[in-house]
Formats: sequence, structure tokens, C-alpha cells
Amino acid sequence: MKTYLVTGGAGFIGSNFIHYMFNKYGDTIRMINVDVLTYAGNLENLKAVAARDNYTFVRADICDSEAISRIFEENEIDRVVHFAAESHVDRSIKNPEVFVRTNVLGTLVLLNAAKAAWELADGSFKEDKRFLHVSTDEVYGSLEEEGEYFYETTPYDPHSPYSASKAGSDFLVKSYMDTYKFPANITNCSNNYGPYQFPEKLVPLVINNALQGKKLPVYGDGLNVRDWLYVEDHCKGIDMVQEKGRLFETYNIGGHNEKQNIQLIYIILDTLQEMLPADDPRKAHINRELITYVTDRKGHDRRYAIAPDKIKEEVGWYPETMFEEGIKHTIRWYFENEDWMKRVTSGDYQTYYEEMYE
Ligand code: NAD
Ligand code: TYD
Repeated sequence: MKTYLVTGGAGFIGSNFIHYMFNKYGDTIRMINVDVLTYAGNLENLKAVAARDNYTFVRADICDSEAISRIFEENEIDRVVHFAAESHVDRSIKNPEVFVRTNVLGTLVLLNAAKAAWELADGSFKEDKRFLHVSTDEVYGSLEEEGEYFYETTPYDPHSPYSASKAGSDFLVKSYMDTYKFPANITNCSNNYGPYQFPEKLVPLVINNALQGKKLPVYGDGLNVRDWLYVEDHCKGIDMVQEKGRLFETYNIGGHNEKQNIQLIYIILDTLQEMLPADDPRKAHINRELITYVTDRKGHDRRYAIAPDKIKEEVGWYPETMFEEGIKHTIRWYFENEDWMKRVTSGDYQTYYEEMYE
């Protein structure tokens, strides 16, 4: 039975990954989730798995080397899937320090703990151990021309403190692979959407605001392009890379699904209209008049787009979920989980929102 150590499992992608893995492997794996529970971490996302005998939650900071080493000493970890990070670009512009601490230093702590646990006396590593570092396509910078894509060979050119800190963490993982032959992979993924995403990010923010008849803030001219991937497809890709990918390789994971921000917002508004019952009073206020153009994000990357050729050829992964279907699943989830949304947007979120969009 393989034992997984997942970091940041109470966040958006991490919690989807834990659900995906238990749905796929059931009782044949063990899963330890280490998360310090920042504003973005929410154990409510995991209540369906909390009582499982093969699931353990450990509240700890990935920068705490003693706590992390203890997990490796007390458990024979076979797979690390490293999600824990500060993940929001706008927050990184306001407060970069915590991004460097968690994303760079935290990754180093984790690498050192895994290396200490897995390294043999001759400097080689125990059989069948794997560390997967979950990263972003934002490390590649910004594309301008239609038809250009990010490949695994694209030089790094991060612009925001967030992407710079993720680039720093990627380079640390690369350095451990090159220097020690540490058994790892890196995946660089495009923008995810789906259940459990915190409403500081565009998709859940638009769904939540539109349902409440609040303005929809669009940065700049609204023509920035992101490549949207349904979160479950990302989770599947991570598992496939860990099981079938070549060790020491980087794989880009992307949706081949580019949308301008404004286009995406139109689709969400139209889908909300289509999915709400005819007598729902919210239908009256859900329209394009809610859209408000606001000051652009500083250093706003224009376009991200991934050509997921390598992962398709080597691992057999491709983005399965059509956007029209994925966005409906997502909206349905937010309809069915209004209390989740109410709880995560109470308290600190209000202060964040007022400061951010003042
Ligand atoms: P998230 O912000 O929703 O979740 C991050 C989780 O990490 C939270 O549960 C938080 O409590 C935890 N965490 C933060 N600091 C920690 C620390 N010091 N110690 C332990 N836990 C800590 O993020 P997400 O959107 O789920 O992203 C997960 C990973 O995927 C990140 O590494 C991110 O860079 C990467 N990624 C995200 C996207 C996306 O579209 N969201 C796309 C590509 C890659
Ligand atoms: P976001 O969800 O923050 O992801 P990322 O910055 O990592 O791509 O933003 C997606 C796009 O939407 C990005 O171009 C910024 C834009 N955006 C807005 O126009 N308004 C908003 O309120 C937010 C949060 C994002």
C-alpha cells in the first residue's frame, strides 16, 4: 500500500486531488495531508474523507522543518504531492514576503525532509519513491501572439512576485534532481476552475458576485487570456505523471482552452441564466450591466497558453472535460454549496475585498 504525503490538501486543488485519489484508489492507498490552514485552507472541503481510516490530517507549516521531518520519520512515505503555496497573484503584489517564505523556503524544507528519508548510504535513493512539485505556467511569463504556446523548453520569465516565488521553488526542485538525482517531477499547469475554489480567483468571484447582484470587477481592458482547465483533469494529470512519467522530467498540463477574461465572464453569466430555474428572482439582476472595468493589475500578464503535447505523447493525458460541461459542474457545485460560500466569505474576506477593490 502506497503512502502519500499531500501538502496544502485543504486548499482548492489539493482537496480536489484527495477526493480524486480516494475515488480512484479507495482503501488501497494511505493519505497524509499536511496543511497549516491559511485563509485559503478549509477542512470543510475534506469532511467527506475525514473519517476514513486511511486518511490523516496534520496541521503544520511546511516551513517547520521539525514537524515535516517528523512526518517522514513516523511514516514510510512513498509519494509526495506538493501543492502547499501562497497562490494569489494580487496578494503577492501587496505582500510578497509570505510568498517567498512558503513557496521557496517551504519547498526547500520539504525537499530536505524527503531527501533525508529516502537517501541511502551510497547517495542513491530508495526504490519507487517520487516527489511531485505542483507548479504553474505563470513561471514562463506572458505570451502576446496567438498561436504561440508555452513548452517545457520555454525559458522562465516570471513577472509577479507569485510567479517569481514559484519559479524559485521549481529551480530548487530542478537543482535537487540535477545535483542529487533526487526522484522528482515538476508539473506546470494552466489556470484551474472547479469546486472548492476560493472566491478571490476570477471564476468563483464572478459566480458569487453575479448571484448576489454585485459588480464584476474586470481588470484593464478585459482582453487578457487564460487557458482554463477543469480541476479534476489537473488531478488526473498529476497522478498519471507520478505513475507513468519519466523521472526528472517536467510536464506542462493545460486545457487547450483559451478565453479572454471578458469572454469567460459572458459565458458564466449566460450559463447562470440558463441554469437558474425560471422563477428564481436572481435571474432579474444577472446581466452584463454588472461588469465594471477597474484599474488594471500591476504587471498583468497578457496571455498564458499551454501546448500539452509532451504529457499527451509520453503519459497519455489530455484535457477530458469540455469547458461547457466543466463550467456547468462548477456552477452547480456553487449552487449546491451556498453555505460553504457564505462561510468562506465571512470575516477576513470582507476586509480583503474592500481593500482590494476599493
Ligand atoms: P490554494 O491557495 O487554494 O491552497 C493552498 C493551500 O496551501 C491552502 O490549503 C493553505 O492553507 C496551504 N498552505 C499555505 N501555506 C502553507 C504553509 N506554509 N504550510 C502548509 N500549508 C500551507 O491554492 P491552489 O489554487 O489549490 O493551488 C495549489 C498549488 O497549485 C499551488 O502550488 C499553486 O501554485 C499551483 N497551481 C495553481 C493553479 C490554479 O489555477 N489555482 C494553477 C497551476 C498551479
Ligand atoms: P486569477 O483568477 O487571479 O488567476 P491568475 O492571475 O493566476 O491568472 O485571474 C484570472 C484573470 O482574471 C487574470 O487575467 C486577472 C483577471 N481578474 C479580473 O479581471 N478581475 C478580478 O477580480 C480577478 C480576481 C482577476
